[in-house]
This record gives sequence, structure tokens and C-alpha cells, in this order.
Amino acid sequence: MRLASGHAVSYLTGEELLKQQEVFRGYKDGLVRLTPGRWLLTPAYVKYADELYDTKFRSSDVVVMTYPKCGTTWTQEIVWTMRNNPDLNNPMASLPVNARCPFYEMDILMDQKGSASSLRQILEDYLQKVAPGEKPRDGIALQLASIAPDPRTIKTHLPLSLLTPDLLDTAKVVYVARNPKDLCMSYYHHSRLIQSHGYSGTLDQFTQFLVNDELLFSPYFEHVKEAWLKRDHPNMHFIFYEDLKSDIMAELHKLDTFLGTSLSEKQITQVAKHTSFKGMKEREEKHFSSPDDFNMDVAKKDGGFFRKGEVGSWKNLNSNQEAKIELWAKRNTLNMGLHFKYKI
Ligand code: A3P
Repeated sequence: MRLASGHAVSYLTGEELLKQQEVFRGYKDGLVRLTPGRWLLTPAYVKYADELYDTKFRSSDVVVMTYPKCGTTWTQEIVWTMRNNPDLNNPMASLPVNARCPFYEMDILMDQKGSASSLRQILEDYLQKVAPGEKPRDGIALQLASIAPDPRTIKTHLPLSLLTPDLLDTAKVVYVARNPKDLCMSYYHHSRLIQSHGYSGTLDQFTQFLVNDELLFSPYFEHVKEAWLKRDHPNMHFIFYEDLKSDIMAELHKLDTFLGTSLSEKQITQVAKHTSFKGMKEREEKHFSSPDDFNMDVAKKDGGFFRKGEVGSWKNLNSNQEAKIELWAKRNTLNMGLHFKYKI
């Protein structure tokens, strides 16, 4: 099967599928791989792929693009607040960040058997309220994104090559990358926490899945590379999680220029405080803790969605796991001029 993007789709079968389903209990429907790129996605992606690829963006859109666990939610809140709430007086700010910033391809996760049931219901009810004629089966998230008012801040984990080729000629993209060792720790936690992944394996196995490019939305370095190669495009702003952590004010000033928001020093200071880990955890955690979608035992023991928010969690990897990730990173970033920070 060929998609509008030109990718061929193959469904994981046999040993390869068994290996995934043994430890990712949420992947009951299986997984698909796209060629070229080797992108690993859910089978539901196939249903929405052409629409996700063909949809045109608006000139006022800002797309926050990341591989999972690289600082998506933080950046969504930063961008949305800078554009819509720099004086911290917008009543819409009380809505969950994912309601204010549509998750473009969320249907490909929600359409999996038994996943995110409560969230799906909330979004479906909301869609019926704001657009009574729309049919949820046509993609709840896609429709919510299409009716969202300007200016939209849109979240996506899809790489550039799976989106409309004129994206950067139309809209702005903020791409966030994170050092692969912290990414591993964060994605491991997330995969145990979120029922639709239902990960029950060890950290050792997880590290192997990561370096084999066998995690959802992988391969990580291909994802990063596509954006990195466009880093000089005037509509691409490439940032690192570690830089946001080490000097938020400097990063907000750069974003202010990129977004054209012209904020005052006072507003930038307010945005920094409002989007701090502590601030976001206090406001947003309640929206990220439904027992239907989250494993509350994991949340109690190891933390919820807002786990640590730091650089350096990777110190919990053993030397073998660390070496594996280092080698994988080295092989995939040769001669690219792409350097990650492991401490700040
Ligand atoms: P940890 O698991 O290392 O704590 P994403 O939004 O892409 O899923 O990324 C989630 C990661 O970003 C988690 O990392 C989460 O704690 C962290 N995070 C969320 N909000 C943050 C904030 N305001 N400041 C710093 N880190 C934040």
C-alpha cells in the first residue's frame, strides 16, 4: 500500500510483532512501519495518513514538532502563552494545554483498541458541542484542529517528511530535540505510565528498543535530522530541551524574535515563571492523571507525566545502557554538527 507521502506501509508480523506485544501491552492492534524512513506508527495511522499529509497549514500557525518526550508540552505552553497570554489574563489559559494546542495526529493513538478512552470521550463531547454536524469517526483530533480559531499552536510528533511539503513555506515550526539518554529515561517512564503503551519490560530492554529504532515515532535521529537540515530556514526554529533548562530567558528572547510576539521584558519574565516545571505541574497535572489512561501505581511510585523535568536523569542508566546509547548517537550524528548536552 502506498500513501500520498509516497511511503509504503508494512504491518509488523511474526517475531517482530510478538517482541513488541510481549512488553507493550497497549499495542493490541499491532504496529506499522513506513518505507522510506522506517517510521514506526500505529495501524490507525494508515487511515489518517493521507489527510495528515495533504492538510494545508495556515500562515498564522505555529507547529511545535518533537519526537515524544523531548519537551513538547513545555514548548506548547511557552508558545501558546507568548502568543495568547503574555499578561497572564486570558481565561482560556485554564483549559488543558492539549485543548488549547491541538495534537494534530492524536487520532492515530486514540483509535487504538482500548486506549485513552476517557480523553477520547471528552474530546468527542467537545467536538459535538462546538461542531454538532461533525462525525467523530472522521477523526476527532483532526476536526478539532481544523475548526480551532487562529492563531493556532499545533502539536505534532510526526516528522517533516510525513507532513505537507510546503509546511515551512506556510507556517512556522518550533522543533525541540533532547539528549538521547534523558529521552530514554523519560520515554521509558512514559511508556510504563500510559496505558496505551502499557510497557511492562525492563529498562534494559527499553534501551535496546530505543537504539533499534523500534519505539513509536522512531527513528529518533531521522526525526531530528530532517528538522536539523532545515534549521536555517526562516520558518524553522530549532531548540534543545537542555537550553530551555539552562537559560530560559535567552531562549524566550530568541522565540520572541522568531514568533514576532514583541513581548516586553516583564512579559517574558512572566512567561518564564508561568511555564516553569513547578507552575505547569501544579496547573496541568490534574489533566494528565485519569486512571483510565494512566497507570496510577507507576504514577504513585515513580511520578506522573510531570516526572522530574531535569537534565541528568540518565545517571540512572547503567554503564552498558549508557554505552549503547552513546554509540547509537555517535553513529547517527556523524559529521552533522549536532551536539547534545548531557549536563548543564
Ligand atoms: P521527564 O520525564 O524527564 O521529567 P513531552 O511533553 O515531550 O512528553 O516531554 C515530557 C518531559 O518534559 C518530561 O520529562 C516532563 O517532566 C518534562 N516537562 C514538562 N513540562 C516541563 C517544564 N515546564 N519544564 C521542564 N520540563 C518539563
